[in-house]
Amino acid sequence: MISTRHARFPLCLLLAAFIPISTAFTGKVPWRLPVAEKRDQVLPRLKAKHADEVAVEEVRALKQTILEEAAGTSNGLKATPQQRDAISKAINGLAAANPTKDITTSELATGTWDLIYTTTPGASGGKLGPFIGEVQQEVDIAEGLYVNYVRLGPLTGRLEATWDVVNKSQWKVVFKSIAFLLFGQQLVKNELDQAGLWTLSYLDDDMRVLTARSLERDTGNVYVLARA
Ligand SMILES: *[C@@H]1O[C@H](CO)[C@@H](O)[C@H](O)[C@H]1NC(C)=O
Repeated sequence: MISTRHARFPLCLLLAAFIPISTAFTGKVPWRLPVAEKRDQVLPRLKAKHADEVAVEEVRALKQTILEEAAGTSNGLKATPQQRDAISKAINGLAAANPTKDITTSELATGTWDLIYTTTPGASGGKLGPFIGEVQQEVDIAEGLYVNYVRLGPLTGRLEATWDVVNKSQWKVVFKSIAFLLFGQQLVKNELDQAGLWTLSYLDDDMRVLTARSLERDTGNVYVLARA
């Protein structure tokens, strides 16, 4: 009968032979290999995760700045120059951190969005005569349809548009019709034949930033929207 001690002996010999051979091939001590490999894999991943977390934190802070500065400014129409400046800087920061590379075709834009800030002094910013209404956008990427609502008490303005994708950052928006509704009943609807150029600069789960301008003009107006 072979004792356990004797049975282990050839195994030790095998190991003793295997280690130098395998080290000669790999240049590494075999039993350290799994640990070293793990470390080489995990450390960069931890660093990347940390960088991601910093970026996420920065984006959150930029959004917070926009929301706080725009609060109580009636879509930005009543914003002070200081507020506009702070928001403009935050918008530039967001654009630099845009996570949605296919921004002009991404399904992420589909849904209902509340306007929280704009630099436009006009109706698309909610201004109706002396009043300022609430502006909401409904976007349906699959349908290629975009509807802009301006709501002021019982009155609703409804602007319908479609678009062509110009390139990776721009839409040519074609306005189709504008209607006015009172208590949900359509009073008047006019067909439109106008176009504008939108530069889309930021899109994620809960915020969008775009700059809209007419085809003739160079300067545009920025719009920041939050998912409703
Ligand atoms: C898209 O086209 C416009 C001109 O209409 C140009 O200024 C812009 O740089 C283009 N953007 C990209 C991402 O190609």
